[in-house]
Amino acid sequence: MQRFPSAVEAVACRRPELPLACLRPHAATRAAQYFVDRFPGKSLYAVKANPDPIILDALWAGGIRAFDVASLNEVMLVGERFPGAHMAFMHPVKSRHAIRRAYFDYGIRDFSLDSEAELEKILAVTDNATDLGLFVRIAVDNSDALLSLSRKFGVDGAEAVSLLQRVRHRAARLGICFHVGSQSMHPQAWVRALQRVQQLILRAGVVADVIDVGGGFPARYPGLEPPSMDQYFDAIERMCEEVLPITYTCDVWAEPGRALVAEAATVLTRVELRKGDTLYLNEGTYGALFDAGGPGFVYPARRIRVEGPNEPTGMMPFRLYGPTCDSIDAMAGPFWLPQDTDEGDYIEFDMLGAYGMALRTGFNGFMTEAPVIVEDEPAMSLYTAPRRHTARPARLIGS
Ligand SMILES: Cc1ncc(COP(=O)(O)O)c(C=O)c1O
Repeated sequence: MQRFPSAVEAVACRRPELPLACLRPHAATRAAQYFVDRFPGKSLYAVKANPDPIILDALWAGGIRAFDVASLNEVMLVGERFPGAHMAFMHPVKSRHAIRRAYFDYGIRDFSLDSEAELEKILAVTDNATDLGLFVRIAVDNSDALLSLSRKFGVDGAEAVSLLQRVRHRAARLGICFHVGSQSMHPQAWVRALQRVQQLILRAGVVADVIDVGGGFPARYPGLEPPSMDQYFDAIERMCEEVLPITYTCDVWAEPGRALVAEAATVLTRVELRKGDTLYLNEGTYGALFDAGGPGFVYPARRIRVEGPNEPTGMMPFRLYGPTCDSIDAMAGPFWLPQDTDEGDYIEFDMLGAYGMALRTGFNGFMTEAPVIVEDEPAMSLYTAPRRHTARPARLIGS
């Protein structure tokens, strides 16, 4: 894979005709080290955020040894790249074929579920295995998150209590998992979720072996400045110590996606036309800029000009359109760029390592170039001063 000191050099050398993803494996490694050292438990990387093998290798180099997988393709990708790595199949709805392959061919023992039907399916497909880790996904408040994940999965109330009791009888390890929503802007979200977990454990009268606090850990974006990652970790650790029952031991897991890889890619796009304050780009919401559409993410953007006058001008707000024929391929921003930005200029969008690359489609025939590696630093970082020597051991609640 081609390597450049920065995206600017990549533009100068390649003048890419199509959108070009520039990977920063060092940023993924740094974030992984941070989680491995400081999260008060075990971190499983949520592969969906970015399954690129370069990124997976970078996370492995940073110490990630466990993976949250959600599809058979993710199982195969991780299973073949890192034989023996711990994988947990954390999609609450799986096909029988995927469960069978995961259990028998890839040695997966941990599965999530949020219904009796899925429990029966897992048991039937694994021939009533007695070595399963079964994780009940509970529904929790997602109101601190930019992207809610609460509507589709999760049980609560009496249904959750009875499912916990049934699963306890059938599981070698009972896990409880939840997701507070992606890009969760306040540690309080985990405090509320863990209080809910505690209530359900007490009502069900079960002993849990693992509490999986899910993903949702944020990255930095313009206008979205979260507290430090340590504040999230401290809140989770405090809750696990103070609120969860302490009469037994319980492992703590997390499934970070965005927080591990957001800083690990930037995408170079080109302006194909300007109309007033609107730029038509060769990349949009059917590509790496998916979350700049409906969810309204504003990524750090900078203009890179390779030809023509390049004196500094004032900045102005632009809105953007992507290349497809679909009018929802629009990004309101506003994105602040030099006033004279025009056709032929490149625009680098940073912080696109999480979900940006993963959500690209070839809709309308708009494809991308093969990625390259860049060595510069992300526009915004939560980990610029990794503290490798302040390691906390993985904790056991109540131990
Ligand atoms: C079950 C599960 N775990 C983890 C994640 C990763 O979430 P995030 O990228 O917000 O950390 C997701 C994202 O959809 C998920 O569905």
